[in-house]
Amino acid sequence: MDHFNYRAGLLHAEDVAIPEIAGTVGTPFYVYSAATLRRHFQVFDDALAGMDHLVCYAVKANSNLAVLKLLGDMGAGMDVVSAGEYLRAKAAGVPGERIVFSGVGKTREEMRIALEGGIRQVNLESEPEMLALQEVASSLGVTVPVTIRVNPDVDAKTHEKIATGKSENKFGIPIARARGAYGETAAQPNLRVVGVDVHIGSQLTDLAPYRAAYTKVAELTEQLRADGHEISRLDLGGGLGIPYEASNTAPPLPADYGAVVRETVGQLGCEIEIEPGRLIAGNAGLMVARTIYVKQGEGRKFLILDAAMNDLVRPAMYEAHHDIVPVIAPEPGLEQEHYDIVGPVCESGDTFAKARSLAPVGPEDLIAFRSAGAYGAVMASEYNSRPLIPEVLVDGDQFAVVRARPSYAEMLARDAVPDWL
Ligand code: LLP
Repeated sequence: MDHFNYRAGLLHAEDVAIPEIAGTVGTPFYVYSAATLRRHFQVFDDALAGMDHLVCYAVKANSNLAVLKLLGDMGAGMDVVSAGEYLRAKAAGVPGERIVFSGVGKTREEMRIALEGGIRQVNLESEPEMLALQEVASSLGVTVPVTIRVNPDVDAKTHEKIATGKSENKFGIPIARARGAYGETAAQPNLRVVGVDVHIGSQLTDLAPYRAAYTKVAELTEQLRADGHEISRLDLGGGLGIPYEASNTAPPLPADYGAVVRETVGQLGCEIEIEPGRLIAGNAGLMVARTIYVKQGEGRKFLILDAAMNDLVRPAMYEAHHDIVPVIAPEPGLEQEHYDIVGPVCESGDTFAKARSLAPVGPEDLIAFRSAGAYGAVMASEYNSRPLIPEVLVDGDQFAVVRARPSYAEMLARDAVPDWL
């Protein structure tokens, strides 16, 4: 469920009409609904009710400071994968005790920043990384709570680029090697083993892979405890999928996911951490664009938009589907046309959708991409020297620009031409 609905024939974000925002900030832009973000966080928090838990929002999904502040103010923890994300979470007012540091290649410099600012735990992904963290922690004279991310060799049955839990993926330590790695970690003077971490992939639409992975984590936890480790936390990762196509069956609900958590690891008495990103932010955002031209091609019509793959890369990168809707609801009964919906970037890959049916669209019409709140703005680039597009947050009847569109001058000013040239 989200808060983007038609009222009197106009698409709204909560109580604000999309054309009003377009009139203020120009197109294209991202718009996020505060009510949807709050609701999705709450749904996860409720799904784990009765268990000691912390929902650590995966910052990578949407790292706008306003989004982080909104969630942080509700008590969310944060899952970060870089010093940049760590500093964003801190800048949004989230205390270090609620920030977990994940990621397969943390540099010593990033570790130092997190340890100096305070961190709830570091999720280690390899033995060399463990030794590096020991070195940094010792140089700062601190002890760091750590988990080890294990790779359970489970097929998440999602797009291959976002599956992370198979043994061929670069993530985590093979679960078969975990006990040894825990032994080595526990022997480090500045590391304190607190738990086990796992994350098997993103946009999961089936609970079975979670059940399989969490069952392995439960077995491992018992072995590790028998080995003398104190395992008091389980970080179960993120990845629960969202409905990208209104016409498809919806993925399992957070409540069903919560039931799997209870069933597989509930008996262990551990504090549960989860790291949802997409499910919190995905359906809380739209990308709104304007048609520049409608071009008749050979046997097809192209809708050429002012947004492109550099603004929303998911279709080009993962063949991802986003529902695309007109901002002004069409008259009922109009015959649908088929459009290839594309951006102006000079690559054929700059295609958002092929043969998509829509009521007739004309130049200057506004159209909206649904489910663009996660992995949208954060993955944008300035390819083709197109400035990053602005982000807007709506809360009830108010809205604010939470990231402004840079001017061309600002974009150019970041480059420097050496004076010897
Ligand atoms: N925790 C870890 C360690 C992760 O690597 C990820 C996502 C998450 C949590 C959050 O997963 P989520 O709940 O959002 O599925 N750019 C891709 C998705 C990449 C996900 C990477 N890791 C996309 O647009 O589909």
